[in-house]
Amino acid sequence: MAGKRYAGVIMSNNRKLFVKTYGCQMNVYDSERMADALAPAGYEVTDKAQDADLILLNTCHIREKAAEKIYSELGRMKPLKEANPDLKIGVTGCVAQAEGAEIMRRQPAVDIVVGPQAYHRLPQMEQRARAGEKVLDTEFPEEDKFDHLPRGPKMRRAPSAFLTVQEGCDKFCAFCVVPYTRGVEVSRPPARILAEARDLVERGVREITLLGQNVNAYHGAGDGDWGLARLLRELAKIDGLARLRFTTSHPNDMEDDLIAAFGDLEKLMPYLHLPVQSGSDKILKAMNRKHTAASYVRLIEKIRAVRPDLMLSGDFIVGFPGEEEADFQDTLALVREVNYGQSYSFKYSTRPGTPAAERAQVEDVDKSERLARLQALLTEQQQSAQRAMVGREVSVLFEKTGRLPGQLIGKSEYLHAVHALCDSARIGEVVKVKITGSVTNSLSGAVL
Ligand code: 5AD
Ligand code: SF4
Repeated sequence: MAGKRYAGVIMSNNRKLFVKTYGCQMNVYDSERMADALAPAGYEVTDKAQDADLILLNTCHIREKAAEKIYSELGRMKPLKEANPDLKIGVTGCVAQAEGAEIMRRQPAVDIVVGPQAYHRLPQMEQRARAGEKVLDTEFPEEDKFDHLPRGPKMRRAPSAFLTVQEGCDKFCAFCVVPYTRGVEVSRPPARILAEARDLVERGVREITLLGQNVNAYHGAGDGDWGLARLLRELAKIDGLARLRFTTSHPNDMEDDLIAAFGDLEKLMPYLHLPVQSGSDKILKAMNRKHTAASYVRLIEKIRAVRPDLMLSGDFIVGFPGEEEADFQDTLALVREVNYGQSYSFKYSTRPGTPAAERAQVEDVDKSERLARLQALLTEQQQSAQRAMVGREVSVLFEKTGRLPGQLIGKSEYLHAVHALCDSARIGEVVKVKITGSVTNSLSGAVL
């Protein structure tokens, strides 16, 4: 069989990789890097599980529902393995880290279980699995795992890309599994991040979203006095890069220099995801958040003073152990005071091994009922923020073609999805658009 050319090497195998990604944007980034790591072994990405020689489920453990989904998905994949005995199945991500060998016990069709810190070893693991071994790797290495992942040939990339700059978390919020699945806070060296960003821009990327579980805790890697603000300022110097964003931030790490960047760094988009989780000081304390509702509101005021048009997004948990109606009312009051353009809200889900899992739990009916009330308010705010865009001029980075002929879809500076009639040659350009309409989850407009 004719070989496939990869970075100058003729590959003899031509295998197909199917990756299904769950959960956060960091998993999206990791899935791409896993595909990069496996490309030199002859793997090409397919979007059809039934064609695959290797299936990877890149999983999320943040809430119980997310973790349980994996087992039902694995159950659905078992027949594929019966049809194709050469098929190997791997579970990656945070469920792999948290549950390890238990996954193979519950679902013997699984060949590989690999945690988020060991992806650079995937090619060897794949070979061991092909030799009939069951492979488990949930070690936390000292080195920067991304450094071991070979970059593919200079393939074009979509205009908007993620770039992980920091991983893990030292905050230990009482509900959260992240410090256990992703480990303690580790920042990548700035030089490597800058090199990766330049590489992305050479491949056609115009917008980079810096990722980290606690991205604003970024502090470099023992190579001088780095913080997220300095990193953003250095990245902004890259010619051809039009936009920068970052997510997710913790209120306690919103330093003054980072706030200042929203005022004077033109490439930094006016959108900030800043989870508060609850508006009750009693619950925030029980959550080990180490801030109060009032200090959060003051912080928002400070950022809005620098960037008045900032679009704010948040995360909320209802029904955390000990939450009473009065605490929930405090959350509603905070939401009314802050006014969010975009939000994510969840019922508290007990996570094994986290401190709050041991406490007396709120009844599920109460959680559901509070979630419905909170979501009604958040949706109302989101819709009114969106409607307020009608008639305004925004700049849109077009990313792809839309469903209607001649239509392109992109994102405004405020992260609204915007569609407009436009020549597809302008994908990858930032274009001025006048907003003419607002539907549930997107805006429509006319190119100026
Ligand atoms: N239950 C419900 N929501 C959670 N989150 C994190 N852990 C839990 C949990 N145990 C939410 C938080 C966090 C977001 C990523 O997920 O709001 O900010
Ligand atoms: Fe989890 Fe975020 Fe709290 Fe860290 S700061 S423990 S990632 S919720």
